[in-house]
Amino acid sequence: MTALPQPRPASASLTIMTQLLFPEHANALGKAFGGQIMAWADMAGGICSMRHSGGTTVTAALDDLQFENPINIGDTVVLEARVNGVFRTSMEVEVLVFAENPATGARWRCVESRMTFVAIDGQGLPRAVPPLVLATPDDQRRSDEAHARRAERLARRRR
Ligand SMILES: CC(C)(COP(=O)(O)OP(=O)(O)OC[C@H]1O[C@@H](n2cnc3c(N)ncnc32)[C@H](O)[C@@H]1OP(=O)(O)O)[C@@H](O)C(=O)NCCC(=O)NCCS
Repeated sequence: MTALPQPRPASASLTIMTQLLFPEHANALGKAFGGQIMAWADMAGGICSMRHSGGTTVTAALDDLQFENPINIGDTVVLEARVNGVFRTSMEVEVLVFAENPATGARWRCVESRMTFVAIDGQGLPRAVPPLVLATPDDQRRSDEAHARRAERLARRRR
């Protein structure tokens, strides 16, 4: 019989990814190209989900992505990915993106997004993921909200 995966805290898979915004990452206005930021967010979220699940994952869904503020060429881009909620073979990961001005140290939030990743086994089939340790009221709130969003997400998918 396969052993059930041991619960893991969100802190164990927290992923911080840092980039520098070069001209090739920008749009015609000299601000960050949205597609580039989405690719980095997918990468940070994917690494976070692989750390939590202990293996390969694929991106199943991306929702609630909001571009709140622009990022300038030369800014430092910091992506923070955290597991909000865990289901059977899938996980909701929140990815926040911040920009930092290296000269002034000013930091502002640019993107909020939530993505669903599915853990995949060697045959390419979904596999069970470890439960999430819910140690604090914040952990519990995030998990409750992730479960509510998942119900909406799956209802949309059925429609
Ligand atoms: C994601 C994928 C593996 C799901 O496969 P599937 O045959 O639908 O598998 P299941 O129906 O058993 O679903 C597996 C899990 O994914 C979840 N899921 C599937 N599609 C979803 C969606 N659109 N939104 C949210 N969750 C989704 C299911 O709810 C289930 O979660 P649970 O086990 O935690 O309850 C499959 O659709 C796929 O491979 N998609 C392409 C992924 C891809 O190429 N991504 C980009 C590159 S990484």
